[in-house]
Amino acid sequence: MSQSAASELSTIAAQVRVCTDCELHRGRTLAVPGAGSETTDVMFIGEAPGMNEDKQGLPFIGNAGKFLDDMLASIEWSRDDVFVTNIVKCRPPGNRDPLPDEISACSAYLDAQIEALDPLLVVTLGRYSMARWFANERISRIHGKHRQHGKRMIVPMYHPAAALHQPSLRAVIQADFKKLPLILEEAKQGLADVDEPESDPEQMKLF
Ligand code: URA
Ligand code: SF4
Repeated sequence: MSQSAASELSTIAAQVRVCTDCELHRGRTLAVPGAGSETTDVMFIGEAPGMNEDKQGLPFIGNAGKFLDDMLASIEWSRDDVFVTNIVKCRPPGNRDPLPDEISACSAYLDAQIEALDPLLVVTLGRYSMARWFANERISRIHGKHRQHGKRMIVPMYHPAAALHQPSLRAVIQADFKKLPLILEEAKQGLADVDEPESDPEQMKLF
């Protein structure tokens, strides 16, 4: 990915930090644009910043974030290998669920981040980010199952905080994470097939 992806992501982050496009800006300490590698093929999308994230301006740094770190480590990935952001960039008061008009006010930032990073693999954490690609689906039915959107693989997963409340979900989330490296390879392979038609002997005959 290009130098410009990094500069586009910083431009978006700067806009998010001063954004007043929805009511959530009133209660925030710091907006949380997202963090991680600006050259990665992998994007994780959570729900909304919590108390710790709001204080530090960084995503997933509380208990759910620690669990996310453990899951990444279990497949030998780290935060530096991926980009992590949320559906809404400012903390809802008392950690309530984000409202539809807040999600839609904030969606232009996520759209721009996806366009800038252009990831091959998008992992949605929880039902709000899942709903962006999988309307009217139930997470219990589709978690861990990738679906292709153009060149991108989208993988819906339970939110890591769900495992903190419901310990039986730990193993489910763990099993879903184990699938990610292969799904990413599959996406890269799909891209190679599109990018390199000259490797097809039938096509080479044309030249
Ligand atoms: N939960 C989220 O969905 N996002 C965060 O950044 C932290 C906790
Ligand atoms: Fe702006 Fe999104 Fe924060 Fe609302 S949640 S104020 S749209 S950055």
